[in-house]
Amino acid sequence: MSSFKKRIFSGAQPTGELHIGNYLGALKNWVELQTEYESFFCIVNLHAITLPQDPKVLKQKTLDLARIYLAAGIDPEVSTVFIQSDVSEHAELAWILSCVARMGELERMTQFKDKSKGSSERAGVGLFTYPVLMASDILLYQTDLVPVGQDQKQHLELSRDLAQRFNRDFGETFVVPEPYIPPVGAKIQSLQDPSKKMSKSDENANGSIFLLDDPDTIAKKLKKAVTDSGTEIKFDESRPAIHNLLTIYQLMTGKTPAECEANFEGKGYGHFKTELAEAVIEFLKPFQEKAKSYSDEELNEKLRVGAKKAKEVASQSVKDVYEKIGLI
Ligand code: AMP
Ligand code: TRP
Repeated sequence: MSSFKKRIFSGAQPTGELHIGNYLGALKNWVELQTEYESFFCIVNLHAITLPQDPKVLKQKTLDLARIYLAAGIDPEVSTVFIQSDVSEHAELAWILSCVARMGELERMTQFKDKSKGSSERAGVGLFTYPVLMASDILLYQTDLVPVGQDQKQHLELSRDLAQRFNRDFGETFVVPEPYIPPVGAKIQSLQDPSKKMSKSDENANGSIFLLDDPDTIAKKLKKAVTDSGTEIKFDESRPAIHNLLTIYQLMTGKTPAECEANFEGKGYGHFKTELAEAVIEFLKPFQEKAKSYSDEELNEKLRVGAKKAKEVASQSVKDVYEKIGLI
């Protein structure tokens, strides 16, 4: 029975193009966890507008992200898939939580420092309060577990702190969520600079393999990927470029680390990159075919049903919160 299952909630922003880091760090785990948990997967378009977006492009990207969720294996019959702005409770609870959060704790968020490029003077207020909206997303659904990549860990800690503070001040209201950060794949690095994470906002497209890249582009990007000095193809933290490529290979093929190393024993970087490209292309092929198979109408209908289901849960939480704080 679904009501006895624990809950998971996660989301991604409909900006840029999703890359294999998003897939390996987040989506892959969502798919694996979706039957064990009662699952909510959101397209966080309200988070997207914390940076300037072209309205038409945003609308299209929102639908494209739904397409990617489903192609990755999220089953809307099993999980609740919806668009954040379709459930107005996200914005409502975010306001309340912004009255619970403190300036100091938001000022410590490293993603704000990165995205505002160190200048809070010109940064949008929404970019600053972004983690409060994220806490609202999570807490609305009484979420037990939040599967995300490493870069979201600090935001998750803030969500936990806000839940605990609210519960302390107004009585038991929210489940305090736990992060689920995968042991392997939580931080896939750029192919061009293994000291940086693979990122949608990277100006150099050669740093990332996008989920919808064609086979030629994938092969070219991997051919150009930087490597380390030395020749051995082994998992060695002190050689971050090869470590990153091997991690991608491991997750795409499902082989153990020892099998991966054995596979490339005595082989050179050229051979390794060719075989890695084949593995990535092979892996993405069925995904890309599936992504093409959904019509806009079909996606819109599934998202409408998802929003209705999400709203049933979210509205209960908001009602409870309003009562607790004296609004109703
Ligand atoms: P975003 O699309 O930026 O909202 O990210 C969606 C999910 O992908 C989040 O859970 C991120 O933590 C995860 N993610 C983003 N970049 C990476 C990366 N380079 N490696 C692993 N996970 C990532
Ligand atoms: N901030 C997350 C990111 O950029 C996206 C996100 C918004 C999210 N709300 C969430 C992730 C709630 C997990 C749970 O990746």
